[in-house]
Amino acid sequence: MKVLVVGSGGREHALCWAISASPLLEQLYCAPGNGGIAEVATCIDIKGEDLDSIVGFAREKAIDLVVVGPEVPLVAGLADKVAAAGIKVFGPSRQAAMIEGSKAFMKDLCTRHGVPTAAYGEFTEIGAAEAFIRSRGAPIVVKADGLAAGKGVVVAATVEEAVAAAREMLAGQFGASSAKLVIEEFLPGEELSFHVLVDGRNCLPLATAQDHKRVHDGDRGPNTGGMGTYSPSPAVDAALEREIMERLIRPVVAGMAAEGRPFQGVLYAGIMLTPDGPKIYEFNCRFGDPECQVLMARLQSDLLPALIATADGVLDHFDLRWRNDAAVCVVMAADGYPGEPLRGTEIRGLDRAGAQPGVTVFHAGTKKDGNRMLANGGRVLGVTATGTTVAAAQARAYQAVDLIDWPQGFCRRDIGWRAIEREKRK
Ligand code: AMP
Ligand code: GLY
Repeated sequence: MKVLVVGSGGREHALCWAISASPLLEQLYCAPGNGGIAEVATCIDIKGEDLDSIVGFAREKAIDLVVVGPEVPLVAGLADKVAAAGIKVFGPSRQAAMIEGSKAFMKDLCTRHGVPTAAYGEFTEIGAAEAFIRSRGAPIVVKADGLAAGKGVVVAATVEEAVAAAREMLAGQFGASSAKLVIEEFLPGEELSFHVLVDGRNCLPLATAQDHKRVHDGDRGPNTGGMGTYSPSPAVDAALEREIMERLIRPVVAGMAAEGRPFQGVLYAGIMLTPDGPKIYEFNCRFGDPECQVLMARLQSDLLPALIATADGVLDHFDLRWRNDAAVCVVMAADGYPGEPLRGTEIRGLDRAGAQPGVTVFHAGTKKDGNRMLANGGRVLGVTATGTTVAAAQARAYQAVDLIDWPQGFCRRDIGWRAIEREKRK
């Protein structure tokens, strides 16, 4: 098969790495890819947002399957265009991708189908937004309705902070994406990244994962796209997984199909494990990044048939096998992140790090310059390791991190801490 993966992050490196191991693969392309992806796929210089050029390339090369990594091209309708060209695609239609593209749509969908989420209101005027915030009190969460590159959520500790965030967003902070706001109840608890392959009707849950969203150790500091992940999540047992599938996932999947916008691809539920049970705080229409890195590190089955079965609508009776080993991914980011990152600095020691047992270094924002590997983004590397426990995987990941010579990069030193504390208590 000829496969084209769309995207340029660590998630897409992990997908390309897994797909490249498939005996079914003839040729792998990635648009636009990055310095690490270039080692397993042919990178082509087309951005994911350039929908027509992606479709044109897929036609020209007679691609059999297009796998769309990021949300922006999905929300813009890339899957629809690829399908209209008669090419198989893994990823939801524009109508189904609205589950991530509009938080108001997502909240209303959950309400229609009785899925537990935070209590909320939708606002386009600051007066009504402010009155709602004052009536509910803090902490409270202010969200831009549309896509905002992971920056459109403010978890406000005070009423004043929430009002200021709402005012700034409605004044056009994120353009059309923040013309409407969702303001919702703060949900206390532990966050879980729950991924499910969905073929329109049938669901196949993947292994569980948890992400560290804050930039500093101890889960402090501003939010990022994710500073590190681990899998499996020791917070989820078989009974909780069943509850999540029955109460949170299946009603949404069935509801979307019944409403004429069946979801096909990977549905990633952001779930808060609250004292009142699991509740949705967001839905994404794609793999988490860096959740995908730990999932691919643990996936034992061939990924490619699973993607095809999802696209073909035949996930019933399909199964995936996972390694018993845990996996940890430590993100190395460029100085400045999550603000403006320093670009163009050289990274050395990647071969040494990647040669450690159980270690794979996924590239997120790198660019090759002759023989040199340069940083070219905020999150730059995802140093991923497997081990018999989360603690063992973490130790291997940090051993590899310490072999990477990159003075202008940084990482958290405590990825997986919650799981490791649980392991110690056992
Ligand atoms: P999102 O961009 O929707 O992933 O939200 C970013 C982060 O904000 C999440 O990872 C959570 O940590 C936090 N968050 C979002 N919604 C809520 C909520 N209702 N209660 C508490 N935290 C939330
Ligand atoms: N790691 C969180 C996300 O991809 O949204």
